[in-house]
Amino acid sequence: MPLLDKIERNRLPAHIAIIMDGNGRWAKKRGMERSEGHKEGVNAIKKVVEAALKASVQYLTLYAFSTENWGRPTEEVQQLMDLMIYAISRETPDLKKNGVKICCIGDMDRLPKYAATAMEECIQETAQGTGLTLVLALSYSSKWELVAAARKITADVVKGVLQEGDINEETFASYLTTCDIPDPDLLIRTGGEQRISNFLLWQLAYAEFYFTDTFWPDFGENDLYAAIIDYQGRERRYGKTSDQIERVQ
Ligand code: IPE
Ligand code: IPE
Ligand code: MG
Repeated sequence: MPLLDKIERNRLPAHIAIIMDGNGRWAKKRGMERSEGHKEGVNAIKKVVEAALKASVQYLTLYAFSTENWGRPTEEVQQLMDLMIYAISRETPDLKKNGVKICCIGDMDRLPKYAATAMEECIQETAQGTGLTLVLALSYSSKWELVAAARKITADVVKGVLQEGDINEETFASYLTTCDIPDPDLLIRTGGEQRISNFLLWQLAYAEFYFTDTFWPDFGENDLYAAIIDYQGRERRYGKTSDQIERVQ
């Protein structure tokens, strides 16, 4: 039976987040330049987006470029930007046709002008999509996001738009870049490392984690389905006991 058919449709993770890691090592293993790994990584994105659409996943967040990644050699940063922006522009018509809505989280002010403009165009073009919401974390880090939220909250309290007593988990979340997006149910990290590298620290509070040694360029449709099936075997207790969870089901 194909893996897709083994997925229980009524227990899908509504939101899957992926730390796409291992492009460089994928290339090194083959005696290639790191940029070749990034090129293959972009192809893997296309495969995984198509797989998510087939499985009817509602939200897919991809960690494409972190705040810390700005510290890589200038040439690699430039190659990554060019690759991502070229791919996004090339794929926009197909994404639109498939009902994909693109969103972006991250510090867009740090992107080169051409990249920010291309992203903005893609966001506008696909704004009416009602199928999969594809969230690209670009120039993103969780600590950046949390500090930005604290600043906005402080400014609103000073202005009198927000009362100190009204700050709770819900209002706090509404100041994050992910305010319109439910928290991820499943976090996948490829490439063998078991860390979250400054990704969605708040939003991952109750996500299920899935780590695989597969390098991102090798990650495909069936790897996504295997992760979903693994997720469906977990019991999410949210601090409660197993008995309490079974009684609700
Ligand atoms: C992930 O692959 C892509 C980005 C971080 C942009 P890496 O480039 O981190 O690949 P490794 O971890 O060095 O193999
Ligand atoms: C995390 O990968 C960031 C992205 C996948 C965009 P890194 O390769 O940058 O993370 P570290 O340095 O191994 O933690
Ligand atoms: Mg890496």
